[in-house]
Amino acid sequence: MCGIVGYIGTDNAAIILERFLKSLEYRGYDSAGIAVYDNIKGQLNIKKTIGTINNLSEEITKNLKGSLGISHTRWATHGKITKENAHPQTSSNNKITIVHNGIVENYLDLKAKMIAKGYTFTSETDSEVIANLIDSHLDKNDINEALKIVLSEITGSSTIVGISSEDPNSIFVLKKGNSGGLVISENEKGEKIISSDPSIISDFASSYRYLVDSEIAILSSNTTNFVQEASKPESRLINITANTMINDDSVYQFKMEEEIFSQKKALERLISKKDSLIFKKLDNSKIEFKKVERILIIGMGSSFHAGLLGSSYFEAVSSIKSETINASEFIETKKVIGPEDLVIGVTQSGETAETIKGLEFAKIKEAQTIAVVEKDTSQASIISDTTINISSGPEFAVASTKTFTSSVVSLLLMSIKIAEKRNIVIKNLKELLENIGMLPSKVGSILSDISSIKSLSRKLHNQEHILYLGRGLLYPIALEGALKMKEVCYIHAEAYTAGEMKHGVNALIGDDMPSIVLAPKGSTHAKMLSTVNEITAREGRVIGLVSEKDLEITPLLSEHLTIESYHPLVDPILFVLPLQLISLYCSLRLKINPDRPRNLAKTVTVE
Ligand code: AGP
Repeated sequence: MCGIVGYIGTDNAAIILERFLKSLEYRGYDSAGIAVYDNIKGQLNIKKTIGTINNLSEEITKNLKGSLGISHTRWATHGKITKENAHPQTSSNNKITIVHNGIVENYLDLKAKMIAKGYTFTSETDSEVIANLIDSHLDKNDINEALKIVLSEITGSSTIVGISSEDPNSIFVLKKGNSGGLVISENEKGEKIISSDPSIISDFASSYRYLVDSEIAILSSNTTNFVQEASKPESRLINITANTMINDDSVYQFKMEEEIFSQKKALERLISKKDSLIFKKLDNSKIEFKKVERILIIGMGSSFHAGLLGSSYFEAVSSIKSETINASEFIETKKVIGPEDLVIGVTQSGETAETIKGLEFAKIKEAQTIAVVEKDTSQASIISDTTINISSGPEFAVASTKTFTSSVVSLLLMSIKIAEKRNIVIKNLKELLENIGMLPSKVGSILSDISSIKSLSRKLHNQEHILYLGRGLLYPIALEGALKMKEVCYIHAEAYTAGEMKHGVNALIGDDMPSIVLAPKGSTHAKMLSTVNEITAREGRVIGLVSEKDLEITPLLSEHLTIESYHPLVDPILFVLPLQLISLYCSLRLKINPDRPRNLAKTVTVE
């Protein structure tokens, strides 16, 4: 989603901004722009492009001179992907230039007021409204006051970084709401970087300070003045530690591939350090577990699917009522939420707007909150009572893989600790822990023999539609498999609980609709056998993921993969691996870049 970078220093700003914007590319964008102040000519030069930052390379080297600038990667929300809608956006008199991440929810009202005052608009964006709005207050106020007024006038969540022509040697920054991060950082040479993503500045400085709701600051080469500052600013100063979980010597062509194959290592790390990463973290947290009567999990996409498994773990292991709700529906469902609820936001990025909104809502209702994230300093972490780090290392491919499995395992481990905290005796705990302990090696063995998965992909990549069917804990895995297929192959894939088939979905069965059934041995096996029989009786083609030596279902299948089964709570994690790989290899056959699927962004900071 949109990315922001600003620079004040002594070097060529455009070249530095280009470098940092490139590190933001993984978040997804469709247009980009840079504004650099040329203090010799006394003018602000703006260059924009649709497509990638590479299109600006020539302009950057030839036409953008100066050592202060702001830049942006845009993922279209308001208005098409055009140069006019790309950022920076300027006020109609060119006095205010801004880049913006977020949504101004009342932009139509504000735009009408601006038009009535004589302002003109050249883009369809809500962001251009901000530039004009700031300018409209400058006749009676200085920039500090103007920014304060604008912060109170706009609704929704926004981070804004801009330059005023009255003080072009400074950059102003403001933050409204909690969605979308913004950090400022200074290195020992005195250069300053402003960024929407702290992970990109690890080579630049040793620390950064993040902004919270309603903060406004003005930065120049010598000073950083907070016009509005929330209390305890020292707590928002973060030391950057080198990320040892980034693999610089990757042998893989694509990040998604690298991330799928890194799951053994990621889970090894999480499980071997579970005492410090999960158990002690919950022990030392301020959450009052005895007070909790219900655990509500919220998340989007893969994190929502991980949450669905999490709820089953909290019910089965911790004997506590639990439900997972799609974060975008959490507030709409008008649930009665109170201090006896624990709301867990699962979000690898920690920046997903809907999940942040849900956590904020939970806080208003006085529920206790935990963020399950990959990034400790993310917005979700900042606003939650406690953070659990899934410790998978950063994920760059748009399609989540390792963060999904690490989130699921984190939730399973949390369910064990929460049971203990509530004095619940877990039946067969030793066996459960042993199976969790064996998980990395089982993951390793699935990932080490992928020939049959590749050959299945050969048969599936030309399909237009695929059904994914699961029951019980395998249903969230079916959802996750279908999501991967949609995301990186653009194949219409739908997941259903197998029980739904007779209630309508069977009408879809035909030549062009194969079904992938997830049918491990155990309590759901007999019913899954019936489902498979019912599909094949209607001439449907069924591909199965089955446990070893399944002599009942296997003969009915056109193709099958075997996953050794060990434990009903742990096995679903194994079943997702072939589904991730099938999507990856179908994607490569279809000549789609799996890391950058069309229309999608890695980090979704707007609702
Ligand atoms: C998963 O493959 C997707 N890229 C997407 O659904 C993602 O899981 C969702 O946007 C939530 O992201 P988060 O975990 O960063 O909150």
